[in-house]
Amino acid sequence: MPRLLRFLLLLLCGLALITAVGYVALTRTTHRWFETDLRARSLFVVTATKQLLARNWEIGREGLVDALEDITRDERVMGAAACSLDGQRLAVTAAYPLDFGCRWVLARLSQEGEGTDPWTTTEELPGGRVHLSAITVTTEGKPLGRVLLVHDLSYLERREATTRNLLLVAFFVLSLGAATITMIAERLAFRVWTSELRRALSGEVTRDFKPLVGDVRALVERLASERDREARGGNWNPERLRSTLTTHLEGERVIILANREPYIHEKTPDGVKVLHPASGLVTALEPVMRACSGVWVAHGSGSADKQTSDARGHVKVPPGEESYSLRRVWLSDAEENGYYYGFSNEGLWPLCHVAHARPVFRAEDWEHYVRVNRKFADAVCEEVDTEDPIILVQDYHFALAPRMIRERLPRATILTFWHIPWPSAERIGICPWREEIISGLLGSSIVGFHTQQHCNNFIDAVDTFMESRIDREANAIVQGARRSLVRPYPISIEWPVHWLESLPSVGECRVSVRKELGLPADALLGVGIDRLDYTKGIEERLQAVDELLTRHPEFRGRFTFAQLAAPSRTKIARYRELNDRVEALADEINARWGKDDYRPIILLRSHHEPPTVFRYYRAAELCYVSSLHDGMNLVAKEFVAARDDELGVLVLSQFTGAARDLTEALIVNPYDLGQAGDALAAALRMPEDEQRERMCSMRRMVSEFNVYRWAGRMLVDAAELRRRERVSGRLSAPTVLTRAMG
Ligand code: G6P
Repeated sequence: MPRLLRFLLLLLCGLALITAVGYVALTRTTHRWFETDLRARSLFVVTATKQLLARNWEIGREGLVDALEDITRDERVMGAAACSLDGQRLAVTAAYPLDFGCRWVLARLSQEGEGTDPWTTTEELPGGRVHLSAITVTTEGKPLGRVLLVHDLSYLERREATTRNLLLVAFFVLSLGAATITMIAERLAFRVWTSELRRALSGEVTRDFKPLVGDVRALVERLASERDREARGGNWNPERLRSTLTTHLEGERVIILANREPYIHEKTPDGVKVLHPASGLVTALEPVMRACSGVWVAHGSGSADKQTSDARGHVKVPPGEESYSLRRVWLSDAEENGYYYGFSNEGLWPLCHVAHARPVFRAEDWEHYVRVNRKFADAVCEEVDTEDPIILVQDYHFALAPRMIRERLPRATILTFWHIPWPSAERIGICPWREEIISGLLGSSIVGFHTQQHCNNFIDAVDTFMESRIDREANAIVQGARRSLVRPYPISIEWPVHWLESLPSVGECRVSVRKELGLPADALLGVGIDRLDYTKGIEERLQAVDELLTRHPEFRGRFTFAQLAAPSRTKIARYRELNDRVEALADEINARWGKDDYRPIILLRSHHEPPTVFRYYRAAELCYVSSLHDGMNLVAKEFVAARDDELGVLVLSQFTGAARDLTEALIVNPYDLGQAGDALAAALRMPEDEQRERMCSMRRMVSEFNVYRWAGRMLVDAAELRRRERVSGRLSAPTVLTRAMG
């Protein structure tokens, strides 16, 4: 209900109450006055005619009637009667109501009225109320008898009705007046208030509004910028990302620094082949790079990379639809062993993942890590063509590069994204070079993580190990004149996925994949797609399948789980051991439940190109992602994107960043084998309606929160930061430099 209406209602209720109380008080008082008045009148009339009455008393009935008629000439006196002292009626006027006979009055007098003169009472007659008084007539002090006078009280009721009506009219007039005055006052006050507020907002701060102005301005700015963003299009797509880059960052291209390259040229017996690596980082960033132009600086790890690049390591990609440059950096075996296998993957990887693998830190690996970070930082600086380029540094391989780049390009906007979890400060404390790692990252303008929890952990680590000021309200670390923002940017995939354009329908994929795997057409199929990495929980996944078959016998002989496992980091002993353990476990489960041609586990240990992976996603009843700890996990989002038939069930570990976004998946604790086995059974039994409901909701989520939005938000934040720095005078307008800068 509008505020003014509420106020008016309250006002009317108050006025009605006052009127009602006033009415009751007024009628009671006037009633009392009238009664006193009547008593006095009766007495006065009888006293005035006393002599006449006394004279006629003696004459007898005729004379008494005349005297009584004289008394009743007043229109309010209904009638009069004369009674002897012993209750005999001596005379009565024509209109006297005979209900009040002389004996009746004498009886009442003896009960209550002895000694009162005149005695009065109010009585009810069918025609209305009447007032009765009995007055003693005396002569020379001797009582002769009593005169009874009856007054008509209906005029009193008429007066009360008139009073009531007058009060009601007064109430309406008052209410109307009060409501009108209130409304006028409210409008006037509102006008004064808004004009004061307007003056305050336009800078003329009045005393009353001073505390409000800051808040209101901030709110208006926020609403305007949100509306602006909305107006620029609904979902994020390559077009919107490009226009964000041109409008917010003046068309500047981006430079990505990531260890893994998006296209690997490999020598094969059939000639040079282009491979797409199994890497969540590449899955996410390659579409971003295709949408924007620029350079991707990466390790040239393919056996045919050198022969397909120019002298400075450049090659235009994607093959066939070239839109950006890949700059390959060459590493010696020693450098690759120390920096990539050693410090990055035996040190930082197990340090950041809670997967019960002990980190190994070797001083010589660290030295390589420092040297290789510098090498890549130099390569980045060679690629820039302004003093303030936008550089996106990716992942744990390059914790030192941001500061190294900052030293050479103090005005660069460096956005570093950490694709894996950032653990607690206590755990980071294990690393002998923790200060160097954190300090390296603080060379960035923005340090991004998948979740707020990882941001909090990072800020805690800075608090524990570094000399700096933490601005907790702005989530920023301040060191001297430089500030680094710490922000969550949950990563995602492209939408729609371009690989789907050339894939057969879901029905065809179901048939062809079952044929390929040697399964009957009606076999139930589950898939797992991973690099062979101990953080992915592949052993726990196979054990969950074992549990499913133990606890739910109806799936024996009908359900098959296909695990596509891309060999990864095989120079590291722990990865080789995992490979052997997974193989032995698959054999053991197959031996337990296998029969004739039936094998519950099919382990496909080789690299699979994206079209194959997407065919498997489309063919399966379910996909199980069982990571023991994962920053995001894009396999889960790819499975959802692949299912344009809106069917299929995702079973997802609670220890993935994706579990926060994809809440309609069946979320499990992968260590709880019984729970995971039951979840697989629930997925296989799930009715299509429920599958569709869950899948549609997850597809909406992934399509809206796609990777263009991820990159767009980082770039918008970067643009905002650059604007502020320019305004505060630290940056000049973009200056074109010669390529020789680096
Ligand atoms: C994770 C890392 C990426 C890496 C990917 C594949 O997703 O965050 O940086 O590219 O694993 O690992 P690899 O060592 O083969 O590049």
